[in-house]
Amino acid sequence: MDNGSRINASTLASDEFAKLVAATPKSKALYERALKSLPQGVGSSFQAGEPYPIYLERGKGSHVWDVDGREYLDFHNGFGAMIVGHAHPVVAEAIEHAARNGTHFAAPTKATVEFAELLCERFSCESLRFANSGTEATMGAIRIARAATGRDHIVKIEGSYHGHHDPVMFSVVPNADMMGGRDAPHSTPMSLGIPHSIAEHTHVVPFNDLTVLSKLLDDQGDRIACLILEPVMMNIGICQPAPGYLQGLKDLLHKHGALLIFDEVKSGATVAYGGAVERYGVVPDLACWAKAICGGTPGAAFGGRADVMDSITRGAAQQGTFNGNPLVAAAGIATLSKVMTREAYTYLEALGSRLASGCAQALQENGIPGHAVDLGAKGCVSYRPEPLTNYRDFLETDTSLYEASYPWAVNRGLFMTPGDEEQWTISVQHTESDIDRYLEQFAEFCSTVSGG
Ligand SMILES: Cc1ncc(COP(=O)(O)O)c(C=O)c1O
Repeated sequence: MDNGSRINASTLASDEFAKLVAATPKSKALYERALKSLPQGVGSSFQAGEPYPIYLERGKGSHVWDVDGREYLDFHNGFGAMIVGHAHPVVAEAIEHAARNGTHFAAPTKATVEFAELLCERFSCESLRFANSGTEATMGAIRIARAATGRDHIVKIEGSYHGHHDPVMFSVVPNADMMGGRDAPHSTPMSLGIPHSIAEHTHVVPFNDLTVLSKLLDDQGDRIACLILEPVMMNIGICQPAPGYLQGLKDLLHKHGALLIFDEVKSGATVAYGGAVERYGVVPDLACWAKAICGGTPGAAFGGRADVMDSITRGAAQQGTFNGNPLVAAAGIATLSKVMTREAYTYLEALGSRLASGCAQALQENGIPGHAVDLGAKGCVSYRPEPLTNYRDFLETDTSLYEASYPWAVNRGLFMTPGDEEQWTISVQHTESDIDRYLEQFAEFCSTVSGG
């Protein structure tokens, strides 16, 4: 696309943001009020957005309503947690039943055991522990990997997010001038408040690259406990593993006595019935799940090989007041056993490929440099012609197009994530006509931005 069209994209973004502000006065007022009690007016920095967040009031099925009374089709879906859709009757009933019988004991219940069994069977896992968020799950898995190997160092992938605990808060979205060379990426902190010394224990390697990891392991393999990665990167749009990459990682790590951890916080219940493990056919030593496994309640788990998880029995600390809470377990059991069945994934695959192929067609017809990715309930448009292989490719995407597409979609009744790193999640309550509504506005967007 020529430079003229790019200017068009940023002008379009300004016009659309102005329309958004005019249409959402109650969100704006709530934002101004919220600034007095919440930094950035939100409960989590990821909820902040330009020009301010849209404050929601309720959700039902594939729809959400904001405080201005505007109705949207929801493709944000709680950062991918709501694949059951909003207020799903089966999940709501399970939560209501659990609430009437006591929401918390900090003692194990039958539901805790049943939920653990369901997760183990579904995700090829021998034994697991519960947590309350993806952050806690990855934190727990890394602790256990360190305990099991007796080693302190960890490896992560450049451009990956695994939650906000210190060891993984490196090179999450590093600026190009801070990244270092491709063969030896720097460990760049993502936040203030992280002690410099933590960087010494966190090494960073590129996704889809076994050479850099192999060299690192040859140099310092006896210090490395584990590598943690998203088997399919989902915080830079969607970036899939090359054939053989995941197995290659596992083999290399095992050769050096280190463990492989899959962060399936996003991919777990969204990319296939059995998550990325099923989709790509590689079973890691440990894996982490959160978001979509608990029907929109705040639960998480991590687990894998029983001999590794036995580190807990041998003295590795893993605990939490709300772990395995019966309300969350009830929601999780209903979600996995009654709603997210194999048939549900067949349905999601059909909707997802309709959405991605429609987007690809609109991009192509309008000569827009981009591609669409379709992966179960998840998918995205990335404004770079070729698929991404790693984070450095993501830096080549045209952000001006995404910046224009966000307010454009919200102004046309589609609720979207505010950042370009993540795009849609479809729920089982979405319909073909919901998908077609998305496609109509996207085709119009592509035609407008390309000057058609
Ligand atoms: C891959 C991945 N891991 C871990 C996390 C952290 O999960 P949580 O926000 O529940 O702490 C996220 C959150 O977006 C994530 O995308």
